[in-house]
Amino acid sequence: MGVNIRGRHFLKLLDYTPQEIRYLLDLSKEFKNMKRNGTPHRYLEGKNIVLLFEKTSTRTRCSFEVAGRDLGMGVTYLDPGSSQMGKKESIPDTARVLGRMYDGIEYRGFDQEIVEELAKYAGVPVWNGLTDQFHPTQMLADLLTMEEKFGHLKGLNFTFMGDARNNMGNSLMVACAKMGLNFTACAPKELFPAQWLVDEARKIAQENGCTVRLTEDVNEGTKDADVIYTDIWVSMGEPDEVWDSRIKLLKNYQVNGQVMDNAKPEAIFMHCLPSFHDTKTTIGAQIAQKFGITEMEVTDEVFESKQSVVFDEAENRMHTIKAVIYATLC
Ligand code: CP
Ligand code: NVA
Repeated sequence: MGVNIRGRHFLKLLDYTPQEIRYLLDLSKEFKNMKRNGTPHRYLEGKNIVLLFEKTSTRTRCSFEVAGRDLGMGVTYLDPGSSQMGKKESIPDTARVLGRMYDGIEYRGFDQEIVEELAKYAGVPVWNGLTDQFHPTQMLADLLTMEEKFGHLKGLNFTFMGDARNNMGNSLMVACAKMGLNFTACAPKELFPAQWLVDEARKIAQENGCTVRLTEDVNEGTKDADVIYTDIWVSMGEPDEVWDSRIKLLKNYQVNGQVMDNAKPEAIFMHCLPSFHDTKTTIGAQIAQKFGITEMEVTDEVFESKQSVVFDEAENRMHTIKAVIYATLC
């Protein structure tokens, strides 16, 4: 039977079957080809979407804006602090108002429960553009990028290094389990994903012939990896005070030349971005001054190396988000 996700929310990959994810990846490839060939695809003319951001963004916001415009839609962006949501208007009320005006709502913010509640009341598809727990649109871009690089997903050895109990670590564990990649979280045990999610991911992985492993050992965790992935050490919404303890916990989990040499020779380096690989950012410079480190989760050498596919990943955010909008609205 064909896959049809019209009218569905896109809140986390746990809600989607491998077949549905496959459909979204194939659709993304079609949209990427159309964009590359200059083939117009204004399939959603007359529709409107709203982008509700309670945290900052470059890639996710721009991807939704460009994708929406390429599909012929009107796009409204509400930045952190400029809507009534939360302060003067509850989530259910906001959802019901926006649902009367728009055909779809993107939300980036804090607890996953907020986006789930928006979805419950909106009456139109709601797309999760990142919460503290999950980042599902990023997953589609990452899967597409890996498939483009290796020609397949099943059986790849995927290692996530760093803060594995955050939105990226959680989401990648589920994405790998769903699509048949062997997932390793290589992190200090304090930053392992929550046990309920590990249990759930292991159940899913078993159905899809792959594994979920957690290890504190960098050598073991990165040996023969096809993909080494990392994320910033302190995420949006976390207080500045955690930098000190996080650097201490994660300094041995930096992706550097030694880590890449321990992976397979053809291994790629991935990162959702933004990244602290030098001191050319305000935070990067502050951290360097305060803690004496000029590179954090990844060295500049690895970030700029031929193995790094981070900008392909960033581009794929737009093609995959376009697929999500189209598939849930058409
Ligand atoms: N990867 C990602 O979500 O980037 P932004 O925070 O720039 O949207
Ligand atoms: N873990 C990061 C991901 C950014 C795309 C954050 O939440 O800030």
